[in-house]
Amino acid sequence: MPVPPFDRRRFLQTSAATLGALALPSAMSALPRFASGVRRRNVPSTDLWVDVLPHESIAPITGNHYGHFIEHLGGVIYDGIWVGERSKIPNIGGIRKSLVDDLRVLTPGVIRWPGGCFADSYDWKDGIGPRPKRPSRLNYWSSALPNSVTGPARYEDNQFGTPEFMQLCKMVGAQPYLAVNARSATALDFAQWVEYCNAPRGTTTLAKQREADGVPEPYNVRYWGIGNEPWGCGGRLRPEEYAEEYRRFSAWVPWFPPKSELPRDQEAVMPRLIAGGPEGTDYEWTQKFLAVMDRSHVRLPYGLSIHDYFDHDDDVFSFNASGWYTMLLQPQLFADILQRHAAAVDQGVKAVNWPRPVTLILDEWGPCYHSTGLGDPSHLLEQVPTMRDALLSSLMFDLFHAHADVLSMTTVAQSVNCLQSLFLTSGEKYTKTPVYHAFALYQPHIGGTSVRTVASSDRISYADEKDPHVTRAIDGVSASATRHTSADGAGHIVVTVTNPRMDQPASATVSLRGVTIASGEVTQLAHGDPHAHNTFEAPETVRLSETKPLALSSSTPSGMFTLTLPPASITRIICKLGR
Ligand code: AHR
Repeated sequence: MPVPPFDRRRFLQTSAATLGALALPSAMSALPRFASGVRRRNVPSTDLWVDVLPHESIAPITGNHYGHFIEHLGGVIYDGIWVGERSKIPNIGGIRKSLVDDLRVLTPGVIRWPGGCFADSYDWKDGIGPRPKRPSRLNYWSSALPNSVTGPARYEDNQFGTPEFMQLCKMVGAQPYLAVNARSATALDFAQWVEYCNAPRGTTTLAKQREADGVPEPYNVRYWGIGNEPWGCGGRLRPEEYAEEYRRFSAWVPWFPPKSELPRDQEAVMPRLIAGGPEGTDYEWTQKFLAVMDRSHVRLPYGLSIHDYFDHDDDVFSFNASGWYTMLLQPQLFADILQRHAAAVDQGVKAVNWPRPVTLILDEWGPCYHSTGLGDPSHLLEQVPTMRDALLSSLMFDLFHAHADVLSMTTVAQSVNCLQSLFLTSGEKYTKTPVYHAFALYQPHIGGTSVRTVASSDRISYADEKDPHVTRAIDGVSASATRHTSADGAGHIVVTVTNPRMDQPASATVSLRGVTIASGEVTQLAHGDPHAHNTFEAPETVRLSETKPLALSSSTPSGMFTLTLPPASITRIICKLGR
C-alpha cells in the first residue's frame, strides 16, 4: 500500500501540541574553507589534493561524535528495535538481535532516547515495572499517522521503557543519553528519573524498583537533555522563558557518583546536562539563554543542543544532478552555521564569566525528503537511503572532525526506519543501508585525534534545482584525517576522502606532511549508480569494497600517494607510519 506523503515540517507547524518547526535558511554562503598557510592549487577539473597536517591537532574523536538517536516515532522503536521476547525474529530480551550485532561494530558512544518531540509528552514511569502491567497512551506522533494504523505507533504500550533502553545501550556498548520531558512533566519527575537510574543499590524506593526490574546496580547515566526543541514542540518558549525552565530543572539534580569514581575531579563524574539550543540560525537565542543564567545559582549546561535537518522537496530515488548536488551542498552550508553557533556560545559564556566551555551537541541531523519508505504506513518519516545519503554522511563526518574542538557529540536522526537510517526493517526483514556503510567506513577514526586536513579541487558547477538558469557550485572534494598513536610509537593515520562528482572519477593525491608511510590499506564505498540503495530483497547492492593494500610509489615522497576515486564515492586509507 503506498504511504501517503507526510511532511514533517508541516506536521510540526500545525500539530496541536506543536507550535513550532525547524527550518534552515535556504542559502547561506560558506566561510572560506581553505586554511591560511596552505595554498589552493589550480588543478585540472577531475584532480584533487588532500594535505594532511598530522602535527596540527584539532581534538580527540570519540564514539560520541558517532552517536545515535531513537524516538518513539513510527517504526523506530516498535519493529525497528523492539520485537518482543516471544517474537520469532531473533532477539535478545525482546531487542532485535541483528541490529544489536551490527550496531555494536560501529562502537557508538551514545544513544539518545526517547525523543525528539515524543520526549516532551512522555512519562518515564510508564516504562518501568512488569511489561504486561504498563499503561497504553496515545503517542505524540499519532495524528500524523494514516487512520488505518493502530498498534504501538499510535497507542504507545510502553513495552520498551527505561530498562529495555538501558539493555540496548549495554549490548552495543554505548552510553545512554536521556531526553527529559521539560514541557509537560516536572523537575521532580526529572529528579526521580535520575534517582531510578543512578541511586546505589538498595538505597531508595526507586533504586529498589530498578532492582525489581532486574537491574540492582545503578546505570550511572551521565547525559541528560532538558527538553527538546524548546522553541517548537518543547513548548514554543522564548529563550528567556526556557532559561527559567532550565534553571528550575537544573537547580538540584540528585547526584550519585559511581563508587569507583568518588570525586577527586567532581566534573569528571557529575551529570552532564544538555540544554535546548536555538532553531536553525537563531544565534540570538543562545546569547539570550546564557544571559539569563545567574552564575551563582546555576550550573551552565555541559552542552547546547542544535538540530539540523536538510529539508528537500526532492524524491528519495528519482533525483537528477541538481537534486544530488543540492543535497550535498548542505554540509558546506552547515559548516558556516556551526561556526556561528560556536561563536555565539563562546560570547555568551564569556559574558557570564563562566570558567568552562559549553560545547555544541548536534543531537539530530539528517536529510528529510518527500518520504519514500518501504511501504509500511506505520513507519512515519521512513526513507530508503541511497548513495546520496551515504555521501551526505561522509561530508558531515568530515565536518564533525574539523570542528571537534567545539562539537563534542552528534546523534543521527534516526538509526532505524526513519530519515537518515542505518537500518530498515519490516517484521523479519532487515537490511543495512548505504548510511550504515558510511558509518562503518569512518569507524576507525574513533579513538584518534582529528588533525588539520586541507582538501583542494575545482568546485563543481550545477544548475539550481528550481531555476535552471542559475548556476551553483559545491566544493569538489571533502576529506578528514585522524592520528592514532600506538605502543611502539609509530602509530597510524586514517584518511577519508569523498569524491562528490556524480558521474566523474577523480585522481587524488594525498600528502601526509612530515611523516613516512610504511604501508597502507584502502577501502571504498562506491556504486556505479548514485541512486543505488539496499532493499530487503537485495541487501548487498551497496556495500564496502574489499580492503586492498595501498600502492606506494618509490618515485613520490614517502608520505604521499595517488589514488583513483570512482564517481560518487567515499574512500578510506589507513596508513601505518614508519619510524
Ligand atoms: O526526528 C523527527 C523530529 O524532528 C523530532 O522528534 C524533533 O525533535 C524534530 O523536529
